[in-house]
Amino acid sequence: MADLDDIKEGKDFGLDRPADTQGFFLKGAANHDWGMKNRLSRIFNPVSGRTVMLAFDHGYFQGPATGLERMDLSILPLVPFCDVMMCTRGALRSTIPPTVTKPVALRCSGGNSILSELSNETVAVDIEDAVRLGACAMAAQVYIGSEYEHKSITNVIKLIDTGTRYGIPTLAVTGVGKDMARDARYFGLATRIAAELGAHYVKTYFVEDGFEKVVAGCPVPLVIAGGKKLPEREALEMAYRAIDQGAAGVDMGRNIFQSDAPVAMIRAVGKVVHELERPDQAYRFYLDLKAQGV
Ligand code: 5RP
Repeated sequence: MADLDDIKEGKDFGLDRPADTQGFFLKGAANHDWGMKNRLSRIFNPVSGRTVMLAFDHGYFQGPATGLERMDLSILPLVPFCDVMMCTRGALRSTIPPTVTKPVALRCSGGNSILSELSNETVAVDIEDAVRLGACAMAAQVYIGSEYEHKSITNVIKLIDTGTRYGIPTLAVTGVGKDMARDARYFGLATRIAAELGAHYVKTYFVEDGFEKVVAGCPVPLVIAGGKKLPEREALEMAYRAIDQGAAGVDMGRNIFQSDAPVAMIRAVGKVVHELERPDQAYRFYLDLKAQGV
């Protein structure tokens, strides 16, 4: 049994020395096969090296959450402005026209609801169906420190093994265990575990202190979730700070589809992510678009 004291802060993250990308633009991905690299290049823009993933998979555990009551009305207008759609196969088949060519990060874990223990998930999509849907990534939640930690890790391992066989990357999504603080130490631990198991990229949360160490300690790209709805200016600031400290993009849901002006917001987020637009300028861009009725 490992001692909790062994979760160390770490000393030397070499923050002044960027990781060597060994000829491929994405951190930690130089040694993958062509299909894997091609899918990763559809998820991450090879010019900026970053991505704006639009997350609208919330219904798989919490039903028609605010902003997702009618995905045909709220999500479809946003799709042209995202780089990747992150959703369930149910949302994809029912709501997204197959003529949409944006890459899909397919939510592949599930099996519980907001009314029960969320960490008790299973792999909810067979690899055959992910291939059939043309998924560019498969995503599963990993709950480090939770009651069902082992089971959630097993889900991620299964996706990594089957996905690797077919050249489909796995996105490990860090869900926070009940007893763990949402700090850099926790996310450093959770993201590193996911990467060492073979996840091709990892979703985490931005933290005020030490986020750059979380990035440095994880040998594959990190994207941040948006979390609960914030005022637009604050959400843009959070995205800016995460990107500035090394995140390779966002996987954002509520801060986009619950915004007063969702299309304006996703476009402003795109400016931050791909152009490192400063929060004040990005917010002004958002306000200008909103004033134009976008
Ligand atoms: C749910 C998820 C969501 O995709 C993730 O939380 C991103 O959405 P938001 O920006 O609304 O937090 O993984 O389990």
